[in-house]
Amino acid sequence: MKFFVDTADVNDIRELEDAGLIDGVTTNPSLILKANRPMKEVIAEICEVTPGPVSAEVTALEAEEMVREGRILAEIADNVCVKLPLTLDGLKACKTLTDDGFQTNVTLCFSATQALLAAKAGATYISPFIGRLDDMNIDGMQLIADIRRIYDNYDFETEILAASIRTINHVREAALLGADVATVPPSTLKALVKHPLTDKGLEQFLADWKKTGQSI
Ligand code: G3P
Repeated sequence: MKFFVDTADVNDIRELEDAGLIDGVTTNPSLILKANRPMKEVIAEICEVTPGPVSAEVTALEAEEMVREGRILAEIADNVCVKLPLTLDGLKACKTLTDDGFQTNVTLCFSATQALLAAKAGATYISPFIGRLDDMNIDGMQLIADIRRIYDNYDFETEILAASIRTINHVREAALLGADVATVPPSTLKALVKHPLTDKGLEQFLADWKKTGQSI
């Protein structure tokens, strides 16, 4: 499973990239707002920090304008992946941009049939939002399972990018269900490494090692 980090904070991205923990980055307009920096500037910087795909989202609502914005974003760097909303216009723009050789990420997916349409439009990635479904008491993981099954039934190459991940358990379940990628906030990604028994065990080993009086 690949890990993307879901943030526009360059310092966090650099830290995780240096640690070898990430394979790419996803951003959205809300994350750009949080970073409080000009979008094109921040996307360019992220693309220098990581060689993996960096999703940058269009904001137009009409297909032709989405394609125009997508081309502008893709010009920033070779590893930009154009992110498009799951609307009819978004799917039309996805098809055009994919046919032209650009990477595409269709976002705001909340149903398996939406995901089926995105695959038929040639999306590189489909982003089902797990956490936002869970917020409404709808099982986000069932959506991942359904999309996996549908894509496997028809050999679609679109990768399932599990998004709106809020917990370590979301990562675990998405991996068990065969999601290709999880996009995870920096804090959750860092939390994946932690386990109290690891800390306890290490403490004990170090205490015993000290008693041996040895050094390596
Ligand atoms: O990239 C989109 C996504 O991961 C949003 O997550 O937590 O705002 O639902 P969230």
